[in-house]
Amino acid sequence: MVANDISDLIHRSEQTMALTGAGVSAESGLATFRDTLTGLWERFDAAQLATPEAFERDPALVWGWYEWRRAKVATAKPNGAHFALAQLEAARPQTVVVTQNVDDLHERAGSRNVLHLHGSLFTPRCARCGRPHRFDATPTVETEGGRRIEPPRCSACGGQLRPGVVWFGEPLPSAAWQKAEAAATTSDLLLVVGTSGLVQPAASLPLIARRAGASVVVIDPHPTAIDEISTRCLRGKAGEVLPHLISAALS
Ligand code: OAD
Repeated sequence: MVANDISDLIHRSEQTMALTGAGVSAESGLATFRDTLTGLWERFDAAQLATPEAFERDPALVWGWYEWRRAKVATAKPNGAHFALAQLEAARPQTVVVTQNVDDLHERAGSRNVLHLHGSLFTPRCARCGRPHRFDATPTVETEGGRRIEPPRCSACGGQLRPGVVWFGEPLPSAAWQKAEAAATTSDLLLVVGTSGLVQPAASLPLIARRAGASVVVIDPHPTAIDEISTRCLRGKAGEVLPHLISAALS
């Protein structure tokens, strides 16, 4: 059985990496990007919200949309998939989670070794001088899709703050990317969880891992772009499947 094989791979792995996408947080109530009807990019226009040009054109629209998403994350709770990966790291400290998600649910579940390839909703910085800033309060944005909110000003230069996420057309944070590439090269097992595998360069990590000799396991309820290079595919929801796989592997 596929699930037994995968538990066995996890059991025997000396260094496991997980590459996670929006699907790992879906059962926490956070929308994915491309799922039919519910995906954020099905309902909102990425060109108006997730590019440097969009922020230049209408900073209040962009800031308000990300505040809405930050409010959603603030009230969400980690699910079984986040906890299972944290449990794996607790038993095997060399485990690394590489996430495309801008939420903090892996950390809140207890994972420590987490690389955020696409930044974080919780690390705004000045759009002019780059200075990092902190949020003072948890947002309460009730309107679906957010409302226009003027971005706060930088305490150093007076420039507008921007969300600390990676937008289309922007490079990934180089330190996180280099560590992720290194982990893909040295891991013997890569669990690809809840990502469509459509966004580069994150989607190239499974191929890097496979070429370096790792087993690549896809866990997703739907077909993904990673399936064809994977060693095993398990169709299922991360929050249902991962806890079983990891408990069996660690028992
Ligand atoms: P996508 O929305 O492209 O893909 C989400 C994946 O999660 C799909 O393959 C779904 O089938 C799967 N999924 C849905 N529910 C699931 C569940 N309960 N358990 C497991 N899987 C489930 O999201 P990402 O691949 O994360 O970038 O998107 C990659 C990047 O595109 C994002 O980081 C974001 C977006 O533009 C930036 O914002 C820079």
